[in-house]
Amino acid sequence: MTAGAPLRHNSAAATTKRHHGKRPRVTDRTMQRIFSGIQPTGNLHLGNYLGAIRNWVRLQDEYECLFCVVDMHAVTTWQEPRELVANIREVTAGLLAAGLDPERNIIFNQSQVRGHAQLAWIFSCVARMGWLNRMTQFKEKAGKHRENASVGLFAYPTLMAADILLYKATHVPVGEDQKQHLELTRDIAQKFNNDFGVEFFPLVEPLIFGAATRVMSLRDGTNKMSKSDPSDYSRINMTDDADTIVVKIRKAKTDPAPLPESPAGLEDRPEAANLLGLYGALSETSLEETCQRFAGASFSDFKNEFAELSVSVLGPIQDEMRRLSADPGHVDAVLRQGAGRARDLAAPILAEIEEIVGYLRP
Ligand code: AMP
Ligand code: TRP
Repeated sequence: MTAGAPLRHNSAAATTKRHHGKRPRVTDRTMQRIFSGIQPTGNLHLGNYLGAIRNWVRLQDEYECLFCVVDMHAVTTWQEPRELVANIREVTAGLLAAGLDPERNIIFNQSQVRGHAQLAWIFSCVARMGWLNRMTQFKEKAGKHRENASVGLFAYPTLMAADILLYKATHVPVGEDQKQHLELTRDIAQKFNNDFGVEFFPLVEPLIFGAATRVMSLRDGTNKMSKSDPSDYSRINMTDDADTIVVKIRKAKTDPAPLPESPAGLEDRPEAANLLGLYGALSETSLEETCQRFAGASFSDFKNEFAELSVSVLGPIQDEMRRLSADPGHVDAVLRQGAGRARDLAAPILAEIEEIVGYLRP
């Protein structure tokens, strides 16, 4: 799916009748609901902005959207409690500063809506160990210390499935790295539907936008730009000031050749491909046009323009983030109000799920 293309109608989302139940369950046939999440683990970076947040801003005009700061996912690895609180506020401020409207969208932090944990438990009992064993993000995050990883880190994708399906969301905008988790979400939905003989959960569709679906580290073009990279020089943080951005870009790894005239010349040049790709994404031009523009140029000339562009795009967002960070009461009010709306949306869905599962509610 590319930005701007219409969403496909998801027929599974439209019907929620039991195969052999007495009461047909009916929901709005035209419903298309967007859900996405972001971890409050510090250092919102350019990959988050281009791969996720900017796309969310575009979707809010057309769809009913929920955007969730996933603090329960964050604690699958150790988080200093006070930092976690600060990071939840900072990420929320980043979302608002980037242009998400808390009136049109539901913006909240996950732990405020207990249904996420409740449904995650049910999904832990639906998903199979073998499915989770195949998750590449777990392998990457757990590394050599698998036995020492938290059970939560292993079960992470079942919570993610719960996030989405608690609202019967149909479409999930994410970067490439989350595709496998969304496939698992579909598997869980399908198995739940089969096990209980219902057509209850929709099969979610990932929305992967054309540009910057995988922004790479500035230090190594084969590694993803990530909040958890120990080197701050690997990423451009949304809170970096102009001088820091300029220095980071100046230090970014390159290769000795001049810039190519077409994308074909970027083969086996991961750093050049990443930097030109980023320039294209920030300036909203194609990679072809970006290559033509800088054909034959040195990296140092290119980097000057790239730094200037980055500062001009991020600057206004940073100003707004600073303003919001001075007003935590406002950010908290947004999260509180968003959580209330999310709870209202989730409550009847969760009640139906629990009835399907056979929990007694005397
Ligand atoms: P996370 O920082 O892991 O919570 O990711 C939040 C969102 O940003 C998800 O939709 C990710 O797919 C996206 N994202 C994270 N890192 C990158 C990256 N390096 N390039 C593109 N998208 C990313
Ligand atoms: N796992 C996602 C990430 O690391 C964050 C996330 C949690 C998410 N729940 C979600 C994304 C639900 C989309 C939908 O980026």
